[in-house]
Amino acid sequence: MDLDSFEELVLKRQSCREFSDMPVDDALVERICRIALLAPSACNAQPWKLYFAVGDKCREIAKGVQDLGMNKFASEAAALIAVVEGKSNLTAKVGARIKDNEFTRHDLGMLTAHLVLAAQSAGLGSCILGWRNEEKLRASFGLEKDAKIAVVVALGYPKEGYPIREKKRKPLEETLKKV
Ligand SMILES: Cc1cc2nc3c(=O)[nH]c(=O)nc-3n(C[C@H](O)[C@H](O)[C@H](O)COP(=O)(O)O)c2cc1C
Repeated sequence: MDLDSFEELVLKRQSCREFSDMPVDDALVERICRIALLAPSACNAQPWKLYFAVGDKCREIAKGVQDLGMNKFASEAAALIAVVEGKSNLTAKVGARIKDNEFTRHDLGMLTAHLVLAAQSAGLGSCILGWRNEEKLRASFGLEKDAKIAVVVALGYPKEGYPIREKKRKPLEETLKKV
C-alpha cells in the first residue's frame, strides 16, 4: 500500500453512527481482529484480549454502551468487539516501574486503531465506544468480574448514502512542529 492509499483509508475511516441491516460474516470480523492483534505494544507485551459478537447477541451487548440514552446506534451494529486489558509481561512491568511509564492504555489504543483501520479497509464502518457500563458489558461478554474493558468497537456496513464527513481536527500549527 502506498502513502496515497493509506491517506485515503485514514480519511474514509470515520465514526459511523448509522449502520445498514446487512450482516457481517463471523469470519471477516475474526480476520479483522487477527490483523489488529498484530499491532505493536511496549516490550511486545500485548496486554490485551479481544472478544467479539455478531448478529442478535449484539442487541443485548449494545445495552452496555447505552447508559443515559447514549450510543443508540450501537443497537444496529452487526458486530461488537470488546477491547479488554490482558496480561502484560515482566519486561513491560519492570520498564513501567523504572521509567514510571505505564504503556498498557497506549497499547490498547494502538490495537483499537488497527481494528478500525482494518475494518475500514474491508469496507466496514466502525465506531469506537468509550461511553460504557463495564459491569453490564462484562456480564454480556461473559467476562470475569475484574476484567477491564478499554472500549467497545461497533462494526457494520454503513447505511446507504452515509456521507463521508470532512475531518475536523485542530489546526496543524497547534499539533505539529518541526524542531
Ligand atoms: C477512546 C474513544 C472513545 C469514544 N467514544 C465514543 C462514544 O462513546 N460514542 C461515540 O459516538 N463516539 C465515540 N468516539 C468517537 C469520537 O467521537 C470520534 O473519533 C471523534 O469525534 C473524531 O471523529 P471521527 O472518528 O469521525 O474522525 C470515541 C473515540 C475514541 C477514540
